[in-house]
Amino acid sequence: MLTFVSQAVRNFHHVGSVWPSSPRLAKALVKPILDRRGHDDRAPIKVLEVGAGTGAVTRTLLSALGPGDSADIVELNPVFCESLERLARERQSRVPGLDARIHANPIEEAELRGPYDFIVCGLPFNNFPPPLMRRIFRRMLSLLADGGTLTYFEYAGVRVARSGVSTADTRKRLRRIEAVGKLLHRRLYGRRTLVLGNFPPAIAIQLQRRGTLPAKFVDAALESDASPCGTGRN
Ligand SMILES: C[S@@+](CC[C@H](N)C(=O)[O-])C[C@H]1O[C@@H](n2cnc3c(N)ncnc32)[C@H](O)[C@@H]1O
Repeated sequence: MLTFVSQAVRNFHHVGSVWPSSPRLAKALVKPILDRRGHDDRAPIKVLEVGAGTGAVTRTLLSALGPGDSADIVELNPVFCESLERLARERQSRVPGLDARIHANPIEEAELRGPYDFIVCGLPFNNFPPPLMRRIFRRMLSLLADGGTLTYFEYAGVRVARSGVSTADTRKRLRRIEAVGKLLHRRLYGRRTLVLGNFPPAIAIQLQRRGTLPAKFVDAALESDASPCGTGRN
């Protein structure tokens, strides 16, 4: 907890929160994996977690996995990666045959081999420039298996709250972030769940890739958001 708070204070842009996610939010984000296991489906599962922090969600995620399953965990902050390495080692010592790897890189650069059945993302998109958000979603969707599920979250009402106290440029940026979110929601069968048991309350968002969704289709959808206020950078 202390590690998370001190890194958040130093680097709020990337961390995007002063508090790690609660167990309830973690459960909402990992729900598609828990549901699959609930159906007693023992086929091996391949999972990607992006922006794992100190492991608030990773803990729940790894406890849903068993022998033969694998998890690639991507986190750019090296201090957080030390906690994640400990967590992965501890879980693997209890579950032999579980493959959990930490990638200390930004998701844009991490060497990964999809497709993944599940992607769980904790990135603070409201802090990012819209072109970076689109680039990251393009990457994640290109790694998602057909029929796979991607979950991520945002804090409830955060854009409304920030709009009231921000510059015109920031308001424009937040509107574009919202537009990308809505577009993904429409194209990828989005579902939103309010999680009050988190500080602050959050919305867990679930997207699904059904059938063969050509990468080009998603690219085109994300590109179509390239509206006049885009900088084209980042
Ligand atoms: C809001 S915190 C979430 C941490 C944790 N998943 C949780 O829910 O408590 C976002 C995390 O994403 C990481 N991050 C930010 N940009 C990233 C990127 N491009 N690639 C990988 N991780 C990133 C930050 O270092 C931070 O640990």
